[in-house]
Amino acid sequence: MKVFNSDVIIVGSGIAGLMAAELLSFHKNVIIITKSDVSHSNSMMAQGGIAAVIDQEDDWRDHFLDTLRAGCHYNNEDVTELLVKQGATMIEKLETLGVQFDKGKDGTYLLGQEGAHLKRRILHAGGDATGKELTTRLITRVKQHVTIHDHTDARDLMVENGQCYGVVCLDKYQQPVRYFAPHVVLATGGAGQLYSVTSNHSTITGDGMALAYRAGARLADMEFVQFHPTMLVKNGRGAGLVSEAVRGEGARLVTEDGQLLMEGKHELGDLAPRDVVARVIFQRILKNEKVFLDIRSIHDFQKKFPSVSSLCVKAGIQLENGLIPIAPGAHFMMGGVETNAQGKTSLDGLYAIGEVANTGVHGANRLASNSLLEGVVFANELARTILHTEETVRQTKVMPIVCQDMSTVQELPTINEIQEIMSKWVGIVRTKENLLKAIRWFEKYKSLIQSNQYYQISSEQHVIRNMLTIGYLIAASALCRKESRGSHYRIDYPLSSDHCLLQTVFCSIHKGEPYVLNKKGFVSNFVI
Ligand code: SIN
Repeated sequence: MKVFNSDVIIVGSGIAGLMAAELLSFHKNVIIITKSDVSHSNSMMAQGGIAAVIDQEDDWRDHFLDTLRAGCHYNNEDVTELLVKQGATMIEKLETLGVQFDKGKDGTYLLGQEGAHLKRRILHAGGDATGKELTTRLITRVKQHVTIHDHTDARDLMVENGQCYGVVCLDKYQQPVRYFAPHVVLATGGAGQLYSVTSNHSTITGDGMALAYRAGARLADMEFVQFHPTMLVKNGRGAGLVSEAVRGEGARLVTEDGQLLMEGKHELGDLAPRDVVARVIFQRILKNEKVFLDIRSIHDFQKKFPSVSSLCVKAGIQLENGLIPIAPGAHFMMGGVETNAQGKTSLDGLYAIGEVANTGVHGANRLASNSLLEGVVFANELARTILHTEETVRQTKVMPIVCQDMSTVQELPTINEIQEIMSKWVGIVRTKENLLKAIRWFEKYKSLIQSNQYYQISSEQHVIRNMLTIGYLIAASALCRKESRGSHYRIDYPLSSDHCLLQTVFCSIHKGEPYVLNKKGFVSNFVI
């Protein structure tokens, strides 16, 4: 079997992974592993911008409070403070790397506004193509001094005695390969593809979270899945995101007969937090009504929003009519692999940054445009930590890989089936009965979810295995959280926005036994 050795292995090529590679690569030997093309990521598609306190009238405390309010006060306040205080420094750093943020004729930054921000503090690059501008710039730089292994599927982490020392992959020729490194960084993004309508790239299937779970790392807050209120829809399927910045520029949510949807629903109206807006739209769609974004008040729409305009044209929507059909779609995982502010997970040698990680900064609901910021801030923290870590003993022992034959596992469901189960029973509005239905469905595959065996399976089967794992963990965690908070809404419990009724819901595998845990102890051992 082929073997590669390096100082740092980064799995994933979104903004967090690329930024970490850029910052580490002058001192360390870095390999990026990515399952598709290096340019395929959610970051590349990000239309929103990057939130940062730049304006004289703004203050980190305001950004901090907006983040906490959107997160329903479930955020880790120390890490959130670090995030918002780093905004201006990170913008400066990105500019030294060649990123050009949009400025007005007078040379000052054009600051936009998005949902739940009480100040204009969103920087954009290339209008609504900020993610593309940032990632393209970083890819160009990283390609010069980092080894990138694309179309390489990370199958399982290599762990012994609580120490992660590498990754087992399947390369582009479908051959098993082992990568050894004292520092393994997960930067694989979230899990939006678990739902039928999503803003996420087709490669975003919860892989990093599933790898970490199988390896015995601790995951937390998996019940918190953010639904973006305005996905462009065509024939009931998502056809791309319509950025919240469109509402920031004055677009209104309306029904087919022109009624203003958010009137009287929240003090921030169309710019209320995402969970609030998504639920209002969802209730209308349940009644078979159609919901639109009315963009007629926005001058130069196509110039201001080139990416949204081109998605609309592709979907056959006549922009001149001024109405874009929308529906909510899965957008962002607040939960994920539990880490500290430096990206360290519960396993030595294993780190997680970006959406796959759960540092606690987003609480129960992420504030708009805090995710690109999260990507660069925590990549920077991670890089500083790794650069200051004493060289650990490298693993030299090559444990044999026992490969299980897939014929020992029952037939798998399709990706569509998993998406349907998640959308129907673990979506925007949840009930105990529906969560139990989902959990029972996932339990049919428990041997595969529980097992940390290496399986000789195709890439599609591997993705399905990961999706089953993460779908189960979201459903079981959602059943454990007996309250409604932020993005986790149960009609059997009232909404809370003040103190936390429940502590964090954790999931992990302990001594070969999977569990989902809340403060009352073991809640689920596949027997709820
Ligand atoms: C958007 O443009 O609405 C998405 C930005 C984000 O999720 O932060």
